[in-house]
Amino acid sequence: MNCFFKAYCRTYQFFLKILAKCIKWPKPQILNNFQDATEILKEKNAFPVLIVSGKTVSQQPFFNELISQLHDKKIPFETFCETTSDPDTVLVEKGAKFFKEKNCKSVIAIGGGSVIDCAKAIMAVAATGKDIKNLRGILKVRKKLPLFIAVPTTAGTGSEATAASVIINRKNKDKYSIIDTALIPSYALLDFRLISNLSQRITASSGMDALTHAVEAYIGKSGTPFTDECALKSIKLISENLLSVYNGEATDDNYKNMLYASFYAGLAFTRAYVGPVHAAAHSVGGFASVPHGVACAATLPLVLRKYGAKAYQKLSEIADYISLAEKSALPDIKAEKFIQYIEELNFKLDIEDKFKLNESEFKQMAAHAFQESNPLYPSPVIFSKKDYLDIFNKLNFKEAGFEKNS
Ligand SMILES: [Fe+2]
Repeated sequence: MNCFFKAYCRTYQFFLKILAKCIKWPKPQILNNFQDATEILKEKNAFPVLIVSGKTVSQQPFFNELISQLHDKKIPFETFCETTSDPDTVLVEKGAKFFKEKNCKSVIAIGGGSVIDCAKAIMAVAATGKDIKNLRGILKVRKKLPLFIAVPTTAGTGSEATAASVIINRKNKDKYSIIDTALIPSYALLDFRLISNLSQRITASSGMDALTHAVEAYIGKSGTPFTDECALKSIKLISENLLSVYNGEATDDNYKNMLYASFYAGLAFTRAYVGPVHAAAHSVGGFASVPHGVACAATLPLVLRKYGAKAYQKLSEIADYISLAEKSALPDIKAEKFIQYIEELNFKLDIEDKFKLNESEFKQMAAHAFQESNPLYPSPVIFSKKDYLDIFNKLNFKEAGFEKNS
């Protein structure tokens, strides 16, 4: 890769890191249950409250529990339960109009990352009165948003702790982020019961998404002592709890710890960014419809190995933190132990490491991944399009000889 381009990327990342240090980052306060949430709404006089959710979640018993508690406490509310995965600009505009018409004073978003992202965008549009396309990018909201309680029903995206909302314009298939500290929820309600009935596939996929957030944030160049601490805590919690939850042997504490792991990873990556694993996984997800967490899980060991010596030190620190290797071992040995640990974890979680990708699309996929990661992601090695092509070839079924044998 051109050394001038690399220098441009590193300079851009350096200034963003300085900017991030100058910004005040609010941290969501943690609530444990719906009762806590209703008490906050009463105490702050923040109603009517708009409940943003999706169809499936709105049919769950815990959703009815929230509604009954609002009724019992005589808190007026409205519901907007139309969110789908990949919320779009039309839905956000509709939600913002509804929020304003009903004169809502707060929002409870209950669902996965898409629901929480949708609620963030609804509030940003409602509060600023701007067209959503004008909120695209960094620090375009710049306005205090109404009281916002995020209630995750999966343990993975970390959206309940982040400053970002990802929205798609379906007309031109343009997917983009709105990034502003104003979008960080005031409260994150982490109730373990809400993730206790998820399928094994969702548990595995979302858990590996959270692990990828934490690892990419920790090994990147924009970490701070705070993000490093959050990332390591998250990795440790995932290493101690994910398999029990996946195998159906979880205690209440295992579920709770996975919710905290996702939350800590969110706190870490919203300030320290993700990296090429996410850029590649977004391409694989977009072109081959592979679930985001699955694409991350399969890509993570490939990217870490490709970093080589540039990531040994940080990966060896992770290996030490979760006691994977002898303390006296060299950093490269410890780093490899951690990479192998991820591969074994993927195997135990039945996550495939090859996908049916279309080779004729690889160039386009690499271009997307390159554009997403550069100059933004402060990864140990700046990936070129060729690096991404190499990753897609390794993820493709064909490379493993499956085509010849089948
Ligand atoms: Fe992710």
